Amino acid sequence: MTPTRRGLIGGLCAAGLGAAGLGACGRAGEGQAQAEPAPSPTPPLKSFARFPVGCAVSLQHLNDPSDAALVARHFSQVTAEWEMKMEYILRDDGGFRFDAPDAIAAFARARGLRLFGHNLIWYAQTSPAFARIDGEAAAFAAAYRNYILAVAGRYRGQAVGWDVVNEPVLDDGSGLRDCLWSRNLGGADYIRRALDHAHEADPGAVLLINDYNLESLPRKRATFMRLVEGLLKAGAPIGGIGTQTHLATDLAGGAVTTATRDLASLGLPIHVSELDISLNRDRSAFASLAEKRARQYRLAHETAAAFAALPNAQRFAFTLWGLRDTESWLRSPKENPSPPWDAPLAFDDAGRAKPMLAALAAGFSGR
Ligand code: G3I
Repeated sequence: MTPTRRGLIGGLCAAGLGAAGLGACGRAGEGQAQAEPAPSPTPPLKSFARFPVGCAVSLQHLNDPSDAALVARHFSQVTAEWEMKMEYILRDDGGFRFDAPDAIAAFARARGLRLFGHNLIWYAQTSPAFARIDGEAAAFAAAYRNYILAVAGRYRGQAVGWDVVNEPVLDDGSGLRDCLWSRNLGGADYIRRALDHAHEADPGAVLLINDYNLESLPRKRATFMRLVEGLLKAGAPIGGIGTQTHLATDLAGGAVTTATRDLASLGLPIHVSELDISLNRDRSAFASLAEKRARQYRLAHETAAAFAALPNAQRFAFTLWGLRDTESWLRSPKENPSPPWDAPLAFDDAGRAKPMLAALAAGFSGR
């Protein structure tokens, strides 16, 4: 059943989730008695979207029944936040461990959720198993292929797609990062090889390249787009673009819309792959908490609306980088050692829906 927009947005409002930010909810006229709405269960976020809506998860959080229920209710896709990465799977002796990723895949399968693989190759994560053969060209290339075949092959037919290479572009946009992979396999060649090996492992999976700050650093976005264009021209099996979309509330309005349209001009499916909207990373002077929350609402709405406005064939998925604020990487001791505690996600520490959820719902549904 296609939910009515008004009913669902109204439902979010009744649940007290509308915000002054965009007047997404009807307001009682002046002087009218406004009966307190009975708290209604928050309508599922995915019911507002005609595309997959995802959430980053970890096994630790999925083992919490309330988290598991919220994920299954609101989302239609899950991404393993860290347990499908090399840091978890590849042991120092070169062996593999798949217990946690298998459990996450089983969770998705049991609830009819799409599973998205993140990530196969990342400059930030290597392993002693690779470091030991650094510089040994043939052995390194064989181990690289073996790792990708083993991981992407294990979830063949389960994972709808993969971030095959994560964050290949330098932040200043001056080129590609130098890393263990590029030093042993060639600057852009390690990316092409990873795509080819992933395609060999799972020909049905959509293969993406994923990066961050593409909305706030136009030069980085341009270099990223040149990389993708080059891969396309060379016939690489690249099937989509991941734009992580880790935002801060001081980002200028319109920047996300511009970036979304720019990236979509390549014609590939787009994955908003890691949305969170940090209040603490807002560097503007004197912005009150109330103003930062209003900005968060507006940015969530803009990001959702820009994605929803893409042609259907280019709406791969829209993923939040976590469920509850307290579970966000932005609340880790390294990122947030002391109060004020960041609140970058759509559900608060107690798992209650925040106005950001209403903003996303409104953006998805064209309101
Ligand atoms: O849970 C274990 C704990 O049991 C163990 O004692 C501890 C010591 O190693 O590790 C804990 O796991 C940590 C995990 O987060 C859960 O908190 C890992 O060490 C830690 O590496 C992992 O960090 C993740 C990080 O990527 C590195 O993989 C973050 O959760 C995750 O949010 C972050 O996500 C990245 C994307 O992959 C790429 N884009 C940027 C984004 C944010 O950095």
